[in-house]
Amino acid sequence: MAHSNSTKNISYRRFDTLIIGAGGGGLRAALQLSEADASVAVVSKVFPTRSHTVAAQGGVNAALANVSEDNWHWHMFDTVKGSDYLGDQDAIEYMCRAASKVVYELEHFGVPFSRLDNGSIYQRPFGGQSKNFGGSQATRTCAAADRTGHAILHSLYQQNIRAKTHFFDEYFAVDLIKDDEGNIQGALVFDIKTGDIVVIEAKTTLLATGGAGQLYRTTTNALINTGDGMAMSLRAGVPLQDMEFFQFHPTGIAGRGMLITEGARGEGGYLVNGLGERFMERYAPNAKDLASRDVVSRAIATEIREGRGCGKDKGHVLLKLDHLEESVIQKRLPGIRQTCKTFLGLDPVESEIPVYPTAHYTMGGIPTNRDGQVVTPVKDTPEEPVQGLYSAGECACVSVHGANRLGGNSLLDILVFGRSAANHIITQLQENRFHRRLHQPSVDQALERLFRWNKKGDGESVEELRTDLKKVMDENCGVFRTQEVLDEGIEKVSALAERLKDAVIDDHSDVFNTARVEALELENIMDVALATVYSAAARTESRGAHSRIDYPQRDDIHWMKHTLYFSENRSIDFKPVRTKPLSVDSFPPKPRVY
Ligand code: FUM
Repeated sequence: MAHSNSTKNISYRRFDTLIIGAGGGGLRAALQLSEADASVAVVSKVFPTRSHTVAAQGGVNAALANVSEDNWHWHMFDTVKGSDYLGDQDAIEYMCRAASKVVYELEHFGVPFSRLDNGSIYQRPFGGQSKNFGGSQATRTCAAADRTGHAILHSLYQQNIRAKTHFFDEYFAVDLIKDDEGNIQGALVFDIKTGDIVVIEAKTTLLATGGAGQLYRTTTNALINTGDGMAMSLRAGVPLQDMEFFQFHPTGIAGRGMLITEGARGEGGYLVNGLGERFMERYAPNAKDLASRDVVSRAIATEIREGRGCGKDKGHVLLKLDHLEESVIQKRLPGIRQTCKTFLGLDPVESEIPVYPTAHYTMGGIPTNRDGQVVTPVKDTPEEPVQGLYSAGECACVSVHGANRLGGNSLLDILVFGRSAANHIITQLQENRFHRRLHQPSVDQALERLFRWNKKGDGESVEELRTDLKKVMDENCGVFRTQEVLDEGIEKVSALAERLKDAVIDDHSDVFNTARVEALELENIMDVALATVYSAAARTESRGAHSRIDYPQRDDIHWMKHTLYFSENRSIDFKPVRTKPLSVDSFPPKPRVY
């Protein structure tokens, strides 16, 4: 049922903590809080186990050393190098040190990890991993076959049910609301099925809404990844950090985007071009197919641009697994075997898989500290926590991934920082025992945003604008960039944002609120697209996933800094990279070779 413009049917609920998003970050935080006897509401626009964590395939990094010698310090080095030296080294040390603990916790929550013959957790090699600070390949990614995210998400959900977390399933969060002093005090949400509106007042609010892969046409991301939390933060006056860094995963199914896990190369798969060459040997002589993702994606795009692609239009390369034993594929990669059969009608045991880089991961996001507190520059201070507001997971930027994330560090990030945010919230709740007075104008503003989508009649179509936006992002903010192309991207996205003001939803919206959800999502992804193109146009160097043809070198003298995009005036500012770790020596920037 649709809702009317009436405010009569609004209900009010109170919780200690509101968590928006029920992926791994949200659920890990919720579990920690519920177990500490906090009252926790989790709002999710899909049933929790459909959150995008479910799609994570290859695994989660932790230096367990089950297969080969390893330690957290080597993992830290690889992550700093993988980030092209833009990651904050204190946060990276914190994450890599915590990795083993959070993985063993998962084991105790019941995650069915694959096992080695001795019964310990199975680990596979992944891109950018090394022993001894850049030496031979490490084996660090803990896996449940190629369905690791699925296994983790289901276990976390079940643990939350046991711990009595309160779920608002299939509710859409419209906007954050504030108290009289401007602190965040929960959110206004609505039930997608009934249209009923609920104001959830909470002493603390955690945004865990995932990434923004729906910026692009071809993506591994689910339809739900529309940058909702990032856009809510922008509207609350918080900038977004490092949005120019968007990861293209090297091996999406060509033309369709579905993920073929990096684990396929970890298990011994490799890429070939139209001449049958194992071309990664030229781009990364040591790591070859297991170089980091930005390197492999650029190599594939270069092979194709230079005419060495495969197929009729030479538009993809091939991933070879057909030299592996069928039993290895069936045991370690059953999901991607099924995906290939379903979507390509081929069996990777017998045939090569056509692949092309596909939009995968938002390295940038809502700026946070290691405790998950959202931080923003205030007057003359570099940054201050936004009272009451936290963020964790892909929507946040802590920043452990810098300019390029390593495969297997995403599941780790959500677990480590979901947990640390919850721990900080627990201390906050001890100090702030009462709900504060709600600032009614912030509720009214959220209502206005929602009711605006009751508008029908003639106007721009939401669907067309969404399609146009993805096309612009593909063409003007893809793997390779130039000033001219990015400036054109700014113009085109700005024009689409203007047209969105005149958009209407279709007539079926009396029956289905899903049309409203799609419109609200488009507003969100449009704001995130603006943040992405403006940030990309501002950074005149090449670093990690941000590859400028006109500025091909990394420029450490001028650009060892994070970008901040503010939606008010669409302005850009910068803040320093934290190069000092917590307890070990810094890893200074070096040429990045694999
Ligand atoms: O390739 C993959 O399995 C993806 C993993 C990741 O993005 O961390």
